[in-house]
Amino acid sequence: MLKIAVLVSGNGTNLQAIIDSIESGYLNCSIEMVISDREGIFGIERAKIKGIKTYVVDRKIYKNTLSSKILDLTLGKVDLIVLAGFLSILDKNFIECFRNKIINIHPSLIPAFCGPKMYGIKVHEKAVEYGVKYSGCTVHFVDEGTDTGAIIAQRVVPVYPEDTADILQQRVLLEEHKLLPEVIKLIAEKRIKVDGRKVIIL
Ligand code: GAR
Repeated sequence: MLKIAVLVSGNGTNLQAIIDSIESGYLNCSIEMVISDREGIFGIERAKIKGIKTYVVDRKIYKNTLSSKILDLTLGKVDLIVLAGFLSILDKNFIECFRNKIINIHPSLIPAFCGPKMYGIKVHEKAVEYGVKYSGCTVHFVDEGTDTGAIIAQRVVPVYPEDTADILQQRVLLEEHKLLPEVIKLIAEKRIKVDGRKVIIL
């Protein structure tokens, strides 16, 4: 069975979607641990409620050793790292150790509204401000850049003139909660092949 670590920095609704997909029988994998880079977030509580092992690797304490601490916790223990609203940057060594085994969910259609400092509500503010007619979410492999890894899957949502960033965020989140478990399922079933920047679903 695919063993995963879920890394979170906030509310953890994507973590919850993974938990729910496992409980419903849709996903055949086990969450070995949930790791947060900050104290007091609800994502950690969601894991504790379900008896999942949790670790807080506080970014303010660990600073530039954050990645190596997370590597100590995960290397050899999990097959896949899932960044579900995780806001710290993992270093080159971590990415090399988990090459093509780290996925991230981002709340826009990459390559729009992504990159350094583009996360959470800011992404939706920019999309609304720009006047795009469609936005969505992307699940991609994580490489050394910020939101630059090969795209695995995307979902599109309409954007209406009267939308606020909050409204758009809620619409996109509904799709994120379906897309992330879908991609983990594809990985668990070994149905993903990586060919350079192209990800082929078998
Ligand atoms: C999600 O919208 C996720 O796509 C986004 O943070 C939110 C976390 O929500 N991630 C990023 O912006 C990463 N660049 P959650 O904690 O409720 O899952």
